Amino acid sequence: MITTIVIVLVVLYFAKDLITDIFQSNEVDPLEAGVKDAAVVEGKFTPLTLKKYNGSDHPKIFMAVKGKVYDVSQGASFYGPGGPYENFAGRDASRGLAKNSFDLNMLTPLDQPIDDLKDLTKEEIESLESWEEHFEMKYKIVGTLNEPQE
Ligand code: HEM
Repeated sequence: MITTIVIVLVVLYFAKDLITDIFQSNEVDPLEAGVKDAAVVEGKFTPLTLKKYNGSDHPKIFMAVKGKVYDVSQGASFYGPGGPYENFAGRDASRGLAKNSFDLNMLTPLDQPIDDLKDLTKEEIESLESWEEHFEMKYKIVGTLNEPQE
């Protein structure tokens, strides 16, 4: 009787390993699949804590659009060091996207409150909203952008 139980347990043990192996072999290695699929800790960012996710101080690239923080690491050719939109990396890109400009003066200085975007025109708001749709479709949200004391 005991022998039977032991055999059953051993079989179950190996079956579990085999099943786990089968499932794992179907999974794509996150490191090879590109950063989008790698686990990202969701969180609350402030302009200062977001800043380091710029592709040089940290391998991940995060960017805020209308209060949401996206992991845009997959678009490193756009946002990484030397890319055309590198100014947006680790920053709130909302104003630049609304005004279709990647100039440095589109960025809110880090010691100032988060841009409330109140002065945007209807067209600029629409432009920002269509960018927002683009980012929601393409990238994973990893958190929100908040004032430091919140
Ligand atoms: C000089 C004129 C510009 C050219 C030739 C240009 C070209 C491009 C090209 C070829 C793409 C890739 C499209 C794709 O493969 O999906 C792109 C994407 C993009 N462009 Fe531009 N662009 C220009 C100006 C701007 C400006 C002024 C902004 C500022 C907001 C901007 C922001 C972006 C963003 C945010 C993306 C999306 C990247 C992503 O999907 O993560 N572009 N641009």
